[in-house]
Amino acid sequence: MAITQIRTTQFHDGSTDEIFTVTHDPIAELKDGEIKVRTDYISLDPAMRGWTTNKRSYMPPVQPGEVMRCFGVAKVLQSASKHFQPGDWVTGFMGVQTEGVLNQRGLRKIDLNYAEPKDYLAGLGMTGYTAYFGMTDIGEPKEGDTVVVSAASGAVGSIASQIAKLAGARVIGIAGGPEKCAYLRDKLGLDGVIDYKNESVNDGLKRNCPNGIDLYFDNVGGETLETVLALINYQGRIAVCGAISQYGDMGNALGPRNFMSVITQSVRIQGFTMKDYMDRVPEAFAYLLQAKMNGGIKFREHIVEGIENFETALAMIFKGENHGKLLLKVRK
Ligand SMILES: NC(=O)c1ccc[n+]([C@@H]2O[C@H](COP(=O)([O-])OP(=O)(O)OC[C@H]3O[C@@H](n4cnc5c(N)ncnc54)[C@H](OP(=O)(O)O)[C@@H]3O)[C@@H](O)[C@H]2O)c1
Repeated sequence: MAITQIRTTQFHDGSTDEIFTVTHDPIAELKDGEIKVRTDYISLDPAMRGWTTNKRSYMPPVQPGEVMRCFGVAKVLQSASKHFQPGDWVTGFMGVQTEGVLNQRGLRKIDLNYAEPKDYLAGLGMTGYTAYFGMTDIGEPKEGDTVVVSAASGAVGSIASQIAKLAGARVIGIAGGPEKCAYLRDKLGLDGVIDYKNESVNDGLKRNCPNGIDLYFDNVGGETLETVLALINYQGRIAVCGAISQYGDMGNALGPRNFMSVITQSVRIQGFTMKDYMDRVPEAFAYLLQAKMNGGIKFREHIVEGIENFETALAMIFKGENHGKLLLKVRK
């Protein structure tokens, strides 16, 4: 029986965003160490731009013609692995496809007693873990710090902002549009917001950070990073999580012209990916589950339905049209 897959047609080179096609191919035969799954939810991530760009990165690019890589949650239908049984639920890297045959390596069982499958792709999944390690391990917010977070209403940013609040910091969020800023201020209790689509980030930071910035959680890079560097305090920290403003044309990505501030202000700037922290996932999961249960952190998801809508749904991320963690429910 044929299944539906989303494959790439070419590498992303900045010339077009239309690099995906829908195919209907038979499912592969199950071999030793593999499982057959039915995909339930797919995580739509800014990283998908990087995965389809032919450049050195933290993992090899998806080759044209391959099924697109994604994080997903799926139910096991058949198993030739001693680690998984039919009926189990798994998460990990899988293809954008309705069903598939996956190698057992890199897959993790999920427990539906704690949360729904989709939660393991959102606040209790990679997104939450990224916010947790980036903010706690690299950012190290302290009581009284002024912390700035960009793309603050998004999947990672909203959790990172709330972790900094729980640490006793004053948190200023930068986001695009009045709805996102109202969410940050009224629902998440941030101390200040900057709607970068309607005011200059420089003016907003000067208004909200009269004593400078102690910690910046960077999700966007580009001009915003440059503006923050001009206001960062002596021995400030910058956790570099992402640079989404630059993903459209990574061959011409902008570096901050005032990078010298890192030297003159003795700034600690550190990038990271979740790959650095895979052995500590249980720690992040326990923290986030506790925070979810006691209401310390609020999670928000934005769900699009139908695998055929993959490409248009992914594009929403780069237009700022997602309100929370963007997920694709494979079946309507
Ligand atoms: N290091 C890691 O391991 C890791 C893991 C996951 C994610 N990330 C990075 O973290 C960042 C956030 O990812 P996410 O999954 O949480 O996505 P998200 O914040 O839920 O969605 C992306 C948001 O970025 C903002 N954005 C889009 N284009 C922009 C532009 N040109 N300039 C400024 N902002 C723009 C939009 O919000 P506005 O409407 O507010 O502009 C959009 O909603 C990304 O840079 C991503 O690559 C890193």
